This record gives sequence, C-alpha cells and structure tokens, in this order.
Amino acid sequence: MTETYSQFVSWFRSAAPYIHVHRGKTFVVQIDDSLVYSEIFTDLVHDLALLNSLGIQLVLVYGARHSIEAWLKENDQESTYHDDVRLTDADTMELVKTAAGKLRVEIESKLSMGLGNTPMSNAELRVSSGNYVMAKPAGIIDGVDYQFTGEIRSIDVNAIRSNLDSDEIVLIPPLGYSITGEVFNLSASSLAAQMAIELKADKLIYLIDDEGLHDAEGNVISQLIQTEAEALLQQGSIEESLYLKVAIHACKNGVPRVQLIDRQASGAILQELFTLDGAGTMITASSYDVIRQADGSDIAGILELIEPMEKQGVLVERSREKLELEIGHFTLMQRDNVIIGCAALYPFSEENAAELACFVIHPEYHKQGMGEQLFAMMETIARKNGLKKLFVLTTQAEHWFLERGFSECSLDDLPVEKQDLYNYQRKSRVLTRTID
Ligand SMILES: CC(C)(COP(=O)(O)OP(=O)(O)OC[C@H]1O[C@@H](n2cnc3c(N)ncnc32)[C@H](O)[C@@H]1OP(=O)(O)O)[C@@H](O)C(=O)NCCC(=O)NCCS
Repeated sequence: MTETYSQFVSWFRSAAPYIHVHRGKTFVVQIDDSLVYSEIFTDLVHDLALLNSLGIQLVLVYGARHSIEAWLKENDQESTYHDDVRLTDADTMELVKTAAGKLRVEIESKLSMGLGNTPMSNAELRVSSGNYVMAKPAGIIDGVDYQFTGEIRSIDVNAIRSNLDSDEIVLIPPLGYSITGEVFNLSASSLAAQMAIELKADKLIYLIDDEGLHDAEGNVISQLIQTEAEALLQQGSIEESLYLKVAIHACKNGVPRVQLIDRQASGAILQELFTLDGAGTMITASSYDVIRQADGSDIAGILELIEPMEKQGVLVERSREKLELEIGHFTLMQRDNVIIGCAALYPFSEENAAELACFVIHPEYHKQGMGEQLFAMMETIARKNGLKKLFVLTTQAEHWFLERGFSECSLDDLPVEKQDLYNYQRKSRVLTRTID
C-alpha cells in the first residue's frame, strides 16, 4: 500500500465513529451572502452534499447583510442601527427582498449541480424553502421605529421536519411573513439560533469571518461552556460578541452545541464534524466531553468508575496502589469534570504491540458512541507510538470488539510476558487487531 493510500484508509477509519454519531442528526448552518458569492462556496456546497448523503439533516439559514450594505453604499446611504439592530425602511426592505430572492436562486442552483468528476456527481440534492417563518414588527423601542425590521413570531417546525425527513435540505431566507401580508427583515444569526432551538437541533454552526473566538493572547478558544462564554461576554473581552450572544441564547434554550467555524477555510465543516480535534470554537450548553491523558489526581474518579465493574467481574480488580503505579497508561473520557470512561494501553515494546485494558464507559452513557470515540483515541495513541497490534482480553464485550475489526486469537499469540499473567479462572477471550 502506498503511503498516501494508507493515510487515506486510516483517515477514513478514524472518521467512521463520527459518521455513526452524526447520522440522523439535525444541524442548522448559518452562512452569509459574501460566502455565497465567493469562490469557496462551491467547496462548501460539496461538503453539504456529502453531509446530506451521510444522513445528516441540514437547515441552511442565509443572511443578506453584505448585499444590503453594498447597495446602501452605492446609493450614498448609511446603514442605521439601534442597539446593534438594523433599522429597515421601506426602500431597504425592497432591497432585502431582492437580495434574499437572488441569494435563494444562487444557493439552489449550486445545490443542483451534478457535474461528473465532481463530488456533486449523482448527488441529486433536493432543496425546499417556503413561508416557514412568521414575523411581527420589532415596533418602536426607546422612541425609535424599527419599521420593517421584524421579530420571529413562530416557526413552522412540522413543515420543516417533514422536508428534512424526506432528505431535503431546507433553505431559510432572513425574512419573516406576517398575517397582515407584510414581509419583515430578520437577523440571520438570531433566526438560525431560534431555528436550532425550535427544531431541537443537535448542532448550530455559524460560518464566520474568523478562525473562531480568541482569548486575550489571541489564541483560538477551542471549547467554552455556556457559563464561561457568559463571563467572557460580560468582561467584554471577546470582539465577536454578536455570535457569542446568539450562541449563548441557543445553548440556554436547549441547543447542545454551537460551533463557530472559519468560512474561509475549505473543508473546515468536515474537519469539525469528523476529526477528534474539530475546528473553530465550540460553545456547549452545560457540559462537553474531553478525552485526555490521566494523572494522579484522577485516581479516585477512575476507581469510582471501575469498582462496580470489578465487583461484577467485568473488569480485573486493580488496587489503588496498582492504579497509582500505572496511571501513566490511562486515558480518560470526561464530561463536566466527571470521569465517564477510561482505557489503558500497556505496551509490549519488543512485539510493537499493546494490551488495551480497563476499557470502560459508565453505564449511564452507554450506546451514545462514547465507546467508539474512546476507542478511536486509543487507536490514535497506539499509532502515534508506532504500535502495530492491539490485544484485548474480555469476558463480556467480545462482540463489541469483533464489530470493530478485532478477531479472536489464541493465548499463544499474546506476548509471552502477558501469557504468564493470564488468569485461567476468568477465561477471558483474547482478541487482536492490527493498527494500520
Ligand atoms: C464495551 C463498552 C465500552 C461500549 O461502550 P458504549 O459507549 O456503549 O459503546 P458505543 O456507544 O460506542 O457502541 C454501542 C454499540 O455497541 C453495542 N454494545 C455495547 N456494549 C456491548 C457489549 N458489551 N457487547 C457487545 N456489543 C455491545 C451496543 O448494543 C451498540 O450497538 P447498537 O447501536 O448496534 O445496538 C461498554 O459496554 C462497557 O463499558 N462495557 C463494560 C466494560 C468492558 O467489558 N470492557 C471490555 C474489556 S476491557
């Protein structure tokens, strides 16, 4: 196998857990008009087609801000804002309608591409759009008349759901209709957040003009819990406060994850969804999962996790002293500072192999793909350490490992050192898998 080919195969395998996890999930993605009219938009459309074909339900909310601003500038007019909200007069509203219509056609035409030799070949994406959003005038606030700037009144969740269930991508313009027959201009970022809340979306993705949010030193912040995000907003230490505000609102109202991703980076959305490290900044409702190397301070948490399994005979007993000595071999999965999973790699350097041991996910978190993610991490660590083979001894999870590429082997296949320690009373099955 050539190196490029083997890199591809290992990348594809490492993406597999995420493919399982995302299937059937609903993502709301907000894009801006400047992105739609840029060269990179074709790449994004290819990525969206791929997500659709992997069974991810997509709602695409688009904004028309840049088109409106360019038009106002051309006509020597200034944008008028109050409290960061654009005031929309009748002329500007006409422009919003034109810009939104043009954008819709542009996006639909790109999503309809099916040229051979491109990722869109045979994609046959279906797109739906309609009067799903009802609005009312924002009204007169502090004596300022917002005119055609609207507020969301309701979202027709059932209609959108039924389109999503028919594998259609739902396209939402920054407009809302009123029962009096008028049209109102809506903020696309707030609309995307409300859409994600009402659809109970699994993820809300903003494609922004930056790599993500930055800390005081200018580094991209990869993860923030909602409460941390609120503290940053109050300190005023984050420039991109507009997105932070809508992200916090979404998190507070049940959206588990909001992601801010650089729209200029081709493939960033795939990187975010299908790699362990992700991309941009993730803001999570109350908790997020971390997979990390264990240290001495984790011993109590690990014992709490594994002792019930040891009592049931699922895992081999480990004393606190043994765990202290071996803590360097352990990797943890943590949510909200609680250890919910762990695994250890005991290398046999002569054989370029390792035993994967104490591989456990807390029963409350079973069947959510956690085991899969933890295993992907253990595989990555093994690969980074140049290991070629993994062994696992199991009494109750044989099929879990068989379904992830392990096969049964005999005791004689184990490194000799491990053969000597084999516990004949436990009668564990011995399984092995090569690392590419
Ligand atoms: C094995 C284990 C880590 C899987 O964790 P998990 O987070 O539930 O796994 P995932 O969510 O990634 O996978 C879920 C899938 O695996 C299946 N599965 C879960 N545990 C299984 C087991 N013990 N045997 C066979 N299949 C199992 C589930 O049915 C589900 O498949 P489905 O969606 O087709 O129904 C977990 O069951 C566990 O902690 N077991 C006890 C510890 C153990 O036996 N460790 C191995 C020896 S070190």
